[in-house]
Parts: sequence; C-alpha cells; structure tokens
Amino acid sequence: MFKHAIVRRPGKNFADGLASFKGAPPDYENALGQHDAYCAALERCGLAVVRLEPDLEHPDSTFVEDVAVLAQNSAIIARPGARSREREVDGIREPLKKFFQTIHEIEAPGTLDGGDICEAEKHFFIGVSRRTNEGGAKQLAAFLARDGYTSSLVDIRAMKSILHLKSGVACVDDRQLVVMEELAAREEFRGYELIRVAPGENYAANCVRVNEHVLIPVGFPAIGGELARRGFRLVPLDVSEFRKMDGGLSCLSLRF
Ligand code: GLY
Repeated sequence: MFKHAIVRRPGKNFADGLASFKGAPPDYENALGQHDAYCAALERCGLAVVRLEPDLEHPDSTFVEDVAVLAQNSAIIARPGARSREREVDGIREPLKKFFQTIHEIEAPGTLDGGDICEAEKHFFIGVSRRTNEGGAKQLAAFLARDGYTSSLVDIRAMKSILHLKSGVACVDDRQLVVMEELAAREEFRGYELIRVAPGENYAANCVRVNEHVLIPVGFPAIGGELARRGFRLVPLDVSEFRKMDGGLSCLSLRF
C-alpha cells in the first residue's frame, strides 16, 4: 500500500522542456488544472501528497518520477540521462530525507531515469534506454539487492516508439503487466499475465496502480474496458498537456 506521493507543480516555462511532440505547445493553465486533478486523484486513493514548488531552472522537473527510485527501506537518487535534467536531483534530496533514512545515489558515468524503472512487487524491471545506461542500471540493481529485491534489465534502446520503459509497461498487480504489443514477446516478462495494449492505445500502457485503483489516461476505451472487466477500479485522468512534453501519468509523481 502506498501512503505518500511527491509531486512538483509545473513551472510557467514547462513548455521549454524536452519533447519529441511536433504539435501545438502545451497550455500552461490547462497543465496546472490537470496537475491539480492528478493530485486530487492521488488523495482520493488515500495518499498524502507533498507538493513541491516549481523549479524554473528545470522545465522538465514536473516529471518528478525520473529523479529517484523508491524501495521499501531506501531511496535511490537517479542521475538523469538528459544533460538539461541532470541537476533536477538537487531538488529531491531534502524532501526524501524526511521519509527515508537510507539514501543512495547513482554515480557517473552511470545514468538513470526513474521512468525506466518498473516495480513489480519484489522485482524491478530496469529499462536500458536512451536515458538509462547499463552502468546506471547495474548500480541500481546492486542497491535494490541490498534491500531484498531482484531485478532484470530490459534493453529498449532499439525502440523508437517509447522514451522510457514505463511508457510501454505497467505492473497492475503481482502477476499482471499492462504491456504494449511491441514489448509483449520479451523474455523478461515471461511468467507474467500480459494485458496487451493495442497499438492505437500505446499511450495508455503508462497506467499506474495506486492501492485499490488504477490511474489511466482518458480516451483509451479498449484497454480501459479490459482492465475494468478484470475488476480494476479505474480513475481516468486527462494528462493531454503533459503528453505533449513526452510525459505520462506515472512520471508526475513518486509514490511510496
Ligand atoms: N520531457 C520529458 C523528458 O524528455 O524527459
């Protein structure tokens, strides 16, 4: 069960962040409204939400999941793989110290974005991506092993369709993974029941189990229907402004 979440409100220069999206830029007022609704949903799921102030030096810092990985007894400060995001970690140490006695840090030349890390109960899938390198992944695996977790690396460097591993896979309970088709044949996921997301709904592979609920982006009826049929209680949320900046539901919070 999660009890807490940490979020960071988007700054007014949020649209200056990294993005592959080529359409109209995000609307700041809309983004704030969507962020408020996201926080309210986390609170309805039973979490106490710590709201950090915008960090105007780092336009992507609202994607706070990327700066840390949280385990049962320790926090691991990430080392984001994009140069413009490297120093975002400076803003998360103090908030995490209030909750975690043991804090590790990924060291250079390792890089690691939290969005590449998918927790499945006592196992972690660690994406090796354009942001997370093998060195960072192995450092994280070693820290997690000290805390009793197993882990496996999932190499997504050849995939153009996703930025982070968690853009394509989510763990909704100890045996079930929501997964985009392109990842469904991966050996690493063998043994799990796979809930496949049709290619037209890939964005919804980034859904988030929060206690008794699953947060899911609005507008994806096939995967939403399938999850509902399986008994999951869905909380649909509009995160269209964050999608324009290559972000999804999971990136907007650290949950623990
Ligand atoms: N805009 C999110 C990222 O590229 O890290």
